[in-house]
Amino acid sequence: MNIEVMNGLLTPKSVAVVGASTKPGKIGHTVLMNLIDSNYAGGIFPINPKAEEILGLKCYPSVLDVPDQIDSAILTIPAKFVPDVVVQCGEKGIKGLNIITSGFSEVGKQELEHHIVELAHQYGMRILGPNIVGVLSNSDKFNGSFAPFLPLPGSGSLVSQSGALLIGIDAATYLRKVGFDKLISIGNMSDVNFSDTIEWLDQDENTTCISLYIEGFKDGRKVIEAARKAKKPIIGLKAGVSAHGAAAAASHTGSLAGAAKIYKAAFRQAGIIEAENLDNLFDRTLVLSLQPPMKGDNLLIITNGGGVGVLGTDAAEKFGVPLKYAPEDIQAELKKYMPPFGSAKNPVDLTGMADTDWYYGSVKYAIAHPWVDGLVVLYCETAMTDPQEIAQCIKRAIKDSGVKDKPVTISYVGGEKSEKAMHWLLKNGIPAYGAPDLAINAMAALNEYAKIKEAVNDLGEDIDNVDKQKALEIIKKARADGRNALTEIESKRVFEAYSLPVTRSELTTTKDEAVEVAEKFGFPIVMKIVSPDILHKSDAGGVVIDIQNVDGIRKAFNEIITNAKTYNTKANIHGVVVQEMAPWGTEVIIGSVNDRTFGPTVMFGLGGIFVEVLKDVTFRVAPFSKKQARQMISEIRGAPILAGVRGEKPCDREAIANIICKYAFMIIDLQDEISESDANPVVVYEEGNGLKVVDARIILKKK
Ligand code: COA
Repeated sequence: MNIEVMNGLLTPKSVAVVGASTKPGKIGHTVLMNLIDSNYAGGIFPINPKAEEILGLKCYPSVLDVPDQIDSAILTIPAKFVPDVVVQCGEKGIKGLNIITSGFSEVGKQELEHHIVELAHQYGMRILGPNIVGVLSNSDKFNGSFAPFLPLPGSGSLVSQSGALLIGIDAATYLRKVGFDKLISIGNMSDVNFSDTIEWLDQDENTTCISLYIEGFKDGRKVIEAARKAKKPIIGLKAGVSAHGAAAAASHTGSLAGAAKIYKAAFRQAGIIEAENLDNLFDRTLVLSLQPPMKGDNLLIITNGGGVGVLGTDAAEKFGVPLKYAPEDIQAELKKYMPPFGSAKNPVDLTGMADTDWYYGSVKYAIAHPWVDGLVVLYCETAMTDPQEIAQCIKRAIKDSGVKDKPVTISYVGGEKSEKAMHWLLKNGIPAYGAPDLAINAMAALNEYAKIKEAVNDLGEDIDNVDKQKALEIIKKARADGRNALTEIESKRVFEAYSLPVTRSELTTTKDEAVEVAEKFGFPIVMKIVSPDILHKSDAGGVVIDIQNVDGIRKAFNEIITNAKTYNTKANIHGVVVQEMAPWGTEVIIGSVNDRTFGPTVMFGLGGIFVEVLKDVTFRVAPFSKKQARQMISEIRGAPILAGVRGEKPCDREAIANIICKYAFMIIDLQDEISESDANPVVVYEEGNGLKVVDARIILKKK
């Protein structure tokens, strides 16, 4: 990213409005008026061949006629005129173009959009948009948009893929009292996209946290990379999570890989805090822009009401920061600030008798205590207390404690006086919310941030004993046969090339061969049909398990071939695979998709009914570390089954973590070839006894 060019685009020292209109109410007029009204100190140059002067400013026929240097041009002319103006801007030496104009890729005109990007790049310019509202910056007093006014000042900055939403958020900042420094509309993301804006805002001295409204990343991996490197908190609200999952899938994993789950995984790997909805985006932006991360799990709640205390306790559990009893010394000290019928355990209930002295004393002591990692203060408006005085004493207590690296959030439940006190707290850098669960959710975001930031550098490692050439040969042969689905045995050979432990299998074409292989492997044996035209082998009567002797092998061979021929008379039958029968164990599934946004992505879950019915699966964008693989194992709902329930010994989770990492390596290494894949089931044995891939499926990318 060229910082100078991006600065020119997003914080220009001078700006031209190409298409500045003489007619009030038109976008080109509004943008010019907004620049003037926002008290922008840089040069403003209206461009319109038909006008001499607009809004008191001298107007020029084209940017080339402007004698001064121009950093950025805002385009508000119809789409068909944009290419010529891009060239003129390039000739003028302009750094960046904010193209408000609609009528490009969003209406199917991809070529026109590519064309203007190509033209801009020839001159080293960057394009924001097209199809944007513009850029707003409080610290630069710059409203280069057709949103009505600058947002309430704040220290977070927002990047939005929706223009209309950005305008709505702009106005809502005043109602919600959550401000932003910058609002950036990125529209069609023809050139500047989320990764560029993350990188740029991360170095912007007026931005403390970055909020994103996302409909879809163009290049998910670049965003992960940019977010991973960012030193500031990033909050993402992902909309449109349902459509993508509907895409047809040939593998089990493909059918389970909805956008919501993969975005969730990618956010976690990138260190992006998720916002559930718009309210949550505001709430979390507020807390992450004002407070330090919560670097531990010990949350203390101080309250003057039992009810809000219980609501807070419930919320703490729900949002992943469950309360623990405070240590004895904290309890002993805090008892000084409550009547005998109060409770110092956690939540610390100062009772309805709590006054400013008790709030002051308890907050000051608690925040400074080494056990406390984060403090939530709850207050219900009472007749004996003044909400504003409570707010002031909380602020004073935090200041007097001298603690700056621990977070505090506050909830007020009350009327107008409480509302005013909350606004005062916000202005003084302390996030205050109208309900206990919101204050707890905000604290949970700070805890989540500390945790996920720790994990963002868990990158993948290389795997030894890989025979990529062998895997490619198998794939090449299948392609030569005109197939894009590998047979089970071919899939297993590819897995073997990446050191994945598969059940021993051999393809046989005669009964005698089958007997010979079975005797070599030892009984019991499983036999399955091998045909690229029969993917669901059991449905075709193509699987016989638990074969105990030679007679059984001969019988099964006949049966399988006959069933397969009846099931699909035209099926091309390769033969029958004879394979060792894996002893009973716990079934899990590992699979992959080549996600269109994030590329190769691994899925893990418990097998059988858990995956079929409960869809209890989790994802990671490959590659990733073993630590991340272990997290995958522990984050599915069925994790306790793998940990060993009802006296059963734990499963070999370390072996699962190993195979997940190898799998991730394989799908990255073969990303040009593999579209989807499943290892299903993988049978896992007790700790120390490993696992076996029993069935395998690989679907190739169409070439
Ligand atoms: N250089 C400078 N000025 C030019 C020009 C050029 N090459 N070509 C035209 N103009 C002038 C016009 O003369 C006009 O000025 P006037 O009103 O004083 O006559 C002005 O530019 C605007 O052109 P006009 O043809 O009147 O277009 P418009 O105002 O009706 O629409 C857009 C232009 C960009 C607003 C419109 O095409 C559009 O894209 N609207 C949607 C924008 C949007 O919603 N974006 C965000 C989505 S979230």
